[in-house]
Amino acid sequence: MNQKLQTYNRFPDYYDEIIRGNWYDIDSEVLFLDETMQKFWSWKEILEFACGTWTIAKELIKKWYTVTWVDLSEQMINKAWEWDFQVWDMTSINLNREFDIVLCTYNSVCHLKDLEAWKDFFQNAYKHLNKDWILIFDILTLFEFENISRDFKWFFNVRWDTLCLEMFKQWDEDIFKWLIKMFVSSWKNNFELVEEEIREISFSIEKIKKELEWVWFEIQHLEDFHFGEVTAESERVYFVAKK
Ligand SMILES: C[S@@+](CC[C@H](N)C(=O)[O-])C[C@H]1O[C@@H](n2cnc3c(N)ncnc32)[C@H](O)[C@@H]1O
Repeated sequence: MNQKLQTYNRFPDYYDEIIRGNWYDIDSEVLFLDETMQKFWSWKEILEFACGTWTIAKELIKKWYTVTWVDLSEQMINKAWEWDFQVWDMTSINLNREFDIVLCTYNSVCHLKDLEAWKDFFQNAYKHLNKDWILIFDILTLFEFENISRDFKWFFNVRWDTLCLEMFKQWDEDIFKWLIKMFVSSWKNNFELVEEEIREISFSIEKIKKELEWVWFEIQHLEDFHFGEVTAESERVYFVAKK
């Protein structure tokens, strides 16, 4: 098979079921975000970068937040069943207005290709924030990526299709790649194999803090999403930074 690998092309068909699916505790994440934002009381307008299939936005709207959303993948956004979206790169979009919160969840920042793109993202978030308001984003840590890429396979059955997710480390570039194999059922019990690759990158907590401060963000809070206090073995870390 000589098929060009693409990112978030067919995978969005399964994203909600297997990544943000029933087994995933979205409530505790929304509670954490809500509590964090409540600390900055006023009318809250959120700009959500990399909103994906709208998992977080739709919960925040139920809590009366106003959300504007942007994602690079039209296929992801199409799954959100919402017409008022913007397909755009969060490192370069200019909406010519400011928000109270810039939000970017579920290691979307790790999808940016290198440190320069992370810096562009921080600067762009800063540009879109009102003074004294906050950027909230999370990362998967280097510790977590090293762990996952050591030996990791996930299998899922979704309707009549089967998916296999694996992660590898590409040593020469220090990046991590999800290889997603989708065995998509077709007529007469045949399966079409569709492969996609999602590339991710991360940096040490110290380096990320330094880059945020370089853009004039003031770090307010770091949270290990599973255990509270951030340690060398934290897997997923939320950053809260004030303009
Ligand atoms: C793991 S998904 C997370 C989606 C959503 N935030 C969530 O919580 O489920 C990563 C998302 O980042 C988006 N993305 C990657 N690079 C981007 C960029 N440069 N600008 C905007 N969105 C981007 C992808 O299209 C994808 O929807």
